[in-house]
Amino acid sequence: MSENFKEAFEKTKIAGSIASGALDEVSKILKPGISTNEIDKICYEFINDHKAYSAPLFYRGFPKSCCTSTNHVVCHGIPSDKILKEGDIVNVDVTAFKEGWHGDTSRMFKIGEISIKAEKLINATYESMMKAISIVKDGVHLGDIGSTIQSHVEAQGFSVVQDFCGHGIGRTFHKEPNVLHYGEKGTGEKIKTGMIFTIEPMINLGNYETKILNDGWTAVTKDKSLSAQFEHTIGVTKDGYEIFTQSNKID
Ligand code: MF3
Ligand code: CO
Ligand code: CO
Repeated sequence: MSENFKEAFEKTKIAGSIASGALDEVSKILKPGISTNEIDKICYEFINDHKAYSAPLFYRGFPKSCCTSTNHVVCHGIPSDKILKEGDIVNVDVTAFKEGWHGDTSRMFKIGEISIKAEKLINATYESMMKAISIVKDGVHLGDIGSTIQSHVEAQGFSVVQDFCGHGIGRTFHKEPNVLHYGEKGTGEKIKTGMIFTIEPMINLGNYETKILNDGWTAVTKDKSLSAQFEHTIGVTKDGYEIFTQSNKID
């Protein structure tokens, strides 16, 4: 790997570990009765304790340090006094900014016992992200990534959200290319060694369509069906990839 990529990879890994560490902290306190504001506080404090900044805070007017997207919320849910209850599923999305570089990651959390449908949706979403990551290497088309995700989840009757996508990331939070989570093999730009981007599929139990609520941020499924999402920030190498937002937690 050329020296140019070395700094980008090293710094993104540092930012990425802080983001993923914040999610590890969140996982320790989640249970019925916790509010999404309490999740936000943990993220803010963990990131601050690691001498980093939360990239979402004040990003285009976003008021909090993480996104908390519950049940039929697809993404960009705003932490509030809302209390999580038994059976809820929630995505927490954290982006740390450290020494000029970003690391962006999200995970699904289960509040107590959840339905079998919700469990299947979460598993399919996680598998689709990991399957897509596993094919990443120099020369792969962006369409190969989208198609891998789409075929995996559609085979189980789920649908891929089209209104939001993964993105290049680095010194800038969101940059080119757009990484779509659907598409055709062999189409789109070829990814190259040294590129850093996110893969963050949003998968719905029902229809793929979304709408934005009046707060200007919260994206929900139009049909109110459940939605799940996972996100990793990865770097492309000649023979594969590096995941910068892997959890250090052993469980
Ligand atoms: N972390 C989100 C992403 O994956 C972006 C959140 S922007 C915010 O790209 F303003 F909503 F926080
Ligand atoms: Co992202
Ligand atoms: Co994110």
